[in-house]
Amino acid sequence: MPRLFTAIELPAEVTADLSALRGGLPGARWIDPENYHLTLRFIGDVDGPMANEVMHVLHRVERPSFDLRLSGLDQFGGRKPRSVFAVATGDPLVELQAEHERLLQRIGLEPESRKYTPHVTLARLKDSSTREVADYLASRGAYRSAPFRVPRFVLYSSRASVGGGPYVVEAAYSLAA
Ligand code: 2AM
Repeated sequence: MPRLFTAIELPAEVTADLSALRGGLPGARWIDPENYHLTLRFIGDVDGPMANEVMHVLHRVERPSFDLRLSGLDQFGGRKPRSVFAVATGDPLVELQAEHERLLQRIGLEPESRKYTPHVTLARLKDSSTREVADYLASRGAYRSAPFRVPRFVLYSSRASVGGGPYVVEAAYSLAA
């Protein structure tokens, strides 16, 4: 069963800038820059027929391309920090995500229960203390990308059941010019 998710790819300049933020946080397992992405909708493990339905229904997305920027760093996990990430902002991004949610529910996927927090994961954390994470965020958190154009989104597959990279582009969908 493939594990699927929809996402936005990052331009090479942004990937290069993000990769310069690696290091300086004990307990961090840094994501390989070639695996950086911004998830729109995590779909999870589905069977072949459902994977086909997903692939088809995403052609119904009718949204314009838009500008996106990454602004600041943050963490998930609170007092047990789990990951650090770059924050993505912008209404068009949220609207695109909502359209994915709507279409994917229409073909029978369970609603996403968590609030959408647009982000690019930089590292997963194991035993990093809150202090170490706070220090890292304080020293690197001023990061801000230049705005960049998002001309398409993609359907990625990851390793079945276990997830993680390398991610494979199963289909790409252009946004209107
Ligand atoms: P993360 O980077 O914050 O872990 C592929 O796993 C992508 O889907 C990742 O960007 C991951 O976010 C995101 N994702 C969202 N919900 C997930 C879940 N329940 N399990 C695994 N990945 C999830």
